[in-house]
Amino acid sequence: MGEVDPAFIQDLEHRPKLSITQAEGIPLIDLSVLNSPDAVSDPSTLDSLVSEIRNACRDWGFFQVINHGVPLEQRQKLEKAARKFFAQPLEAKLKVRRDELQVSGYYDTEHTKNVRDWKEVFDFSVHNPTIVPASTRPDDKEVVEWHNQWPEYPPELREACEEYAEELEKLSFKLMELIALSLGLPADSFYGYFKEQTSFIRLNHYPPCPAPDLALGVGRHKDAGALTILSQDDVGGLEVKRKSDGEWIRVRPTPDAFIINVGDIIQVWSNETYESVEHRVMVNSERERFSIPFFFNPAHYTIVKPLELLTSEKDPPRYKPYNWGKFFVTRKGSNFKKLDVENIQI
Ligand code: SIN
Ligand code: FE2
Repeated sequence: MGEVDPAFIQDLEHRPKLSITQAEGIPLIDLSVLNSPDAVSDPSTLDSLVSEIRNACRDWGFFQVINHGVPLEQRQKLEKAARKFFAQPLEAKLKVRRDELQVSGYYDTEHTKNVRDWKEVFDFSVHNPTIVPASTRPDDKEVVEWHNQWPEYPPELREACEEYAEELEKLSFKLMELIALSLGLPADSFYGYFKEQTSFIRLNHYPPCPAPDLALGVGRHKDAGALTILSQDDVGGLEVKRKSDGEWIRVRPTPDAFIINVGDIIQVWSNETYESVEHRVMVNSERERFSIPFFFNPAHYTIVKPLELLTSEKDPPRYKPYNWGKFFVTRKGSNFKKLDVENIQI
């Protein structure tokens, strides 16, 4: 990735501004009350947390959490192993290359909206391999998805990934409870959708880029799944499109925080009470950047549609039902096809 290949160059209107202001940031929410006995004895403590979640989801679609209960050591162990993996020569990384049938593994040719992203990644699934029936696939072929491939080096990567996945899954369920409460639903409303999952974790490495004004680490996009929990290092680069005025806002790295965003599935379930918000990643010419998103996704057979409790005669469903598995396995090149919400809008 020495020279800037034209494949990486963004159209003029989508190029990043290097001098972007760090205006009012996304909300920072302290989850410590979840881990304290007060949450049970004083329900109003939880009420104020739930209303912070509601405001953040409604106004931003994004927020950061601190005191989330995920041990820092586990996160550091995974970050360290990820650095070692990416520091290897390309040939070594290509031994666990992701291809048409392997949804997990290494690749460096991700494109977002047909422009190549300045990054390399390693994906792995959170759950065991799943048989995806022919009926949910556009090509009518039954395949086994989510067969994780693990590199020989570093040997500790697999354990670090698996331990981290377990912790992040616990946090995802807590966040889904808070989101359910924030929508006026019982806390366990979403559990059923995640008994089986298509959740996966991505290790991202963004090398220094000689043209950070022309290329992006990840082009503008919305996340297609339910919830994303992102760990980013101290370099920064994530930008979120502010709902109030459409300005790109840089998310300042906060030590030991996770960045949470609601994806397209929550947008549909909530019948647009919450929206999946566009974001992108800037790169820079001096420092490499690492980030680790956890994509919390429901079972592949899930039919996604607005929840009945959140629709009414006055507020009818804004989306037609769609099959998540079918959508999820419809990949374009090496990339998951992103949900084009306009296409499923009624
Ligand atoms: C993404 O949105 O795909 C990546 C986010 C990041 O690396 O900050
Ligand atoms: Fe994203």
